[in-house]
Amino acid sequence: MKFFIDTANLAQIREAKDLGVLDGVTTNPSLMAKEGITGTDNILKHYKEICKIVETGDVSAEVISTDFEGMVEEGKILAEIDENIVVKVPMTKDGIKAISWFTANGIRTNCTLVFSAGQAILAAKAGATYLSPFVGRIDDIGWDGMQLIEDIAHIYAIQDYDTMILAASIRNPLHIVKAAQAGAHVVTCPLDSILGLLNHPLTDIGLAKFLADHKKANG
Ligand code: E4P
Repeated sequence: MKFFIDTANLAQIREAKDLGVLDGVTTNPSLMAKEGITGTDNILKHYKEICKIVETGDVSAEVISTDFEGMVEEGKILAEIDENIVVKVPMTKDGIKAISWFTANGIRTNCTLVFSAGQAILAAKAGATYLSPFVGRIDDIGWDGMQLIEDIAHIYAIQDYDTMILAASIRNPLHIVKAAQAGAHVVTCPLDSILGLLNHPLTDIGLAKFLADHKKANG
């Protein structure tokens, strides 16, 4: 399973890259706004900066338009920033039409805001490169987000769809483990959730004991 970081924060992207486990980045308009990146030029420059840090990994850049023509125009501009840009398109009727157009024209896509297996089938039929089911937001309303990842993984396997499942809206380290078990191809998560995978009290206790024993024996 690939690891993407879900942020537009350059320091966090660098920190994940330095760990040596980073395969890509996802952003969305809320994450860009959180970093104070506004205006088309600054937004495009910021994506370029992210691509430079990630080097070889994919970077999802989301369109703001909601109509087919607007999505296509925006997506063409985004795709020109770097060969690793993946155009992120919302799961709507125009979005599916745009994904079909991008697929036919060799531009890779990430279909976002996915909350059902039916939507996942439609996105795969349109040729989406990635599919982003929002696990955390489904959990937030009392449903089971990870069950959706399992369902989609099952459907994609038996139907032999090429679209990669990118588990999104990840809230904690356990979500990452469960996404791997459920068959997600990629997980995109906040830095805290990635770093949370490091933690186990027995690791800390064990290391303290090793170091104490070494000190006792060596002075
Ligand atoms: C990423 O592609 C999604 O936009 C993101 O994971 C959504 O996460 P959130 O539900 O925490 O906003």
